[in-house]
Amino acid sequence: MMLLELVDVTASYGPVQVLDGVSLRVPEGGAVGILGANGAGKTTTLRAISGTVRTRGTITFEGRDIRGSRPEQIAALGIAHVPEGRGTLGQLTVRDNLRVGAYLRNDRKAVSGDIDYCLDLFPQLRDRIGSSAAALSGGEQQMLAIARAFMARPRLLMLDEASLGLAPSTARAVYDSIRRLRTESGISMLVVEQNASLAFTLVDSATVLEVGRNALSGTTAELRGMDEIRRAYLGG
Ligand SMILES: Nc1ncnc2c1ncn2[C@@H]1O[C@H](COP(=O)(O)OP(=O)(O)OP(=O)(O)O)[C@@H](O)[C@H]1O
Ligand SMILES: [Mg+2]
Repeated sequence: MMLLELVDVTASYGPVQVLDGVSLRVPEGGAVGILGANGAGKTTTLRAISGTVRTRGTITFEGRDIRGSRPEQIAALGIAHVPEGRGTLGQLTVRDNLRVGAYLRNDRKAVSGDIDYCLDLFPQLRDRIGSSAAALSGGEQQMLAIARAFMARPRLLMLDEASLGLAPSTARAVYDSIRRLRTESGISMLVVEQNASLAFTLVDSATVLEVGRNALSGTTAELRGMDEIRRAYLGG
């Protein structure tokens, strides 16, 4: 069963149309990548799903038409978006960021269990639990943004360039934890990434956007085998 399906989605900022018919599907329990160069429309695709940009076309989540719904309604259906440039509340502590992530939940015991789980997944956060988010390193902020989104217990976790600006070893560590989260929770993921080799360690399939359209799509194995992917995204 498809959790999320986009068919021929267009999106515009004011008069400027930047998505020109994007289609993609995320199966229940699946992880799908969105690759592409700067300005290709990756972030806008996530914003189309979150309801923060004007769209046309079809966007269905669990079989329900969500296009045109308000961002808070879409979040309440179980779609969590970790935005580009991270999504933490800088003035709040790590602990409070995690609590805020769970604010729509009323299962208090499970929430505190999930906080423990996040600190186990990202042990560096445990050492910084009382620090303000703004005082964390870039890698720690990315970890907190992911953990905070997970605290809502979404059905779909959307990540926008989780590796951006991180040292290679930190980016790999973040992806190791995301992979573990996927395996242990079964949560479905839609992952925007410019670093295709990192994305391919996580996703089952991906689509490559070029100027607001799908240029190529396939399973991770199929894409790894394509010359144009190797040249443009895998450094050879
Ligand atoms: N708020 C905005 N107003 C007008 N145009 C925008 C806005 N945000 C993005 N754009 C334009 O929309 C196009 C797609 O941008 P988008 O941010 O979706 O690309 P991206 O693939 O995420 O790029 P990057 O890899 O740089 O993050 C670009 O041409 C960009 O300049
Ligand atoms: Mg972007």
